[in-house]
Amino acid sequence: MKTQYYTATSLDGFIATEDDSLDWLFSLGDLTNSSYPAFIAEVGALVMGASTYEWIVRNADQVAAETGAAWPYTQPVWVFTSRKLPLIEGAIIRFVKGDVQPIHKEMREAAAGKNIWIVGGGDLAGQFYDAGLLDELIVQIGSATLGRGKQLFPRRVLSPTLRLVSVRQMGAGMAELRYDVSKTQGR
Ligand SMILES: NC(=O)c1ccc[n+]([C@@H]2O[C@H](COP(=O)([O-])OP(=O)(O)OC[C@H]3O[C@@H](n4cnc5c(N)ncnc54)[C@H](OP(=O)(O)O)[C@@H]3O)[C@@H](O)[C@H]2O)c1
Repeated sequence: MKTQYYTATSLDGFIATEDDSLDWLFSLGDLTNSSYPAFIAEVGALVMGASTYEWIVRNADQVAAETGAAWPYTQPVWVFTSRKLPLIEGAIIRFVKGDVQPIHKEMREAAAGKNIWIVGGGDLAGQFYDAGLLDELIVQIGSATLGRGKQLFPRRVLSPTLRLVSVRQMGAGMAELRYDVSKTQGR
């Protein structure tokens, strides 16, 4: 059972534009020919921040076209927010805030031996990292730059650096890197 931050980024380290657009991303890869189907099959619980959740709510039609459903997750999802956000019909969602540690404990129990997926954004993944709870970073790096935007992982990881465990090319538009974070943290 692992806690994984699985995401796509621009070559210059942004997961979305400043105004939360992902239009740059969709032409770069194809979900069905990626690691996603095998990855999501092992996920038992998901967690995301408010902006990521609001993107899914705003882009329900596009999500449905890409994945076959406006809310593509059958697993329970925890959404971090300080606000009251609309609930999507049929989704298993818990709105939470504050310290990630007790929420991670709840998620572990719900995931029942499967993995926990931190969907994003970068700072939320950073909060799990800060608490020593992030095991893996799996990142698809797109062959595009944005110049500015929402950061992949706004943390300084220097000593030791992350431990790269695999590299996979996905066509001309993407490369996937997998990092073992838990070894980095000496746990
Ligand atoms: N490229 C990709 O594969 C990918 C993957 C995931 C997401 N995205 C996109 O990237 C963007 C990410 O946006 P973002 O960087 O703003 O991150 P985000 O994590 O989605 O949202 C940040 C918000 O989450 C809430 N939050 C975070 N930690 C909290 C805590 N401990 N307690 C309470 N609330 C907390 C706050 O919302 P409140 O305002 O409610 O307090 C905060 O403003 C989105 O556009 C998303 O669609 C892209």
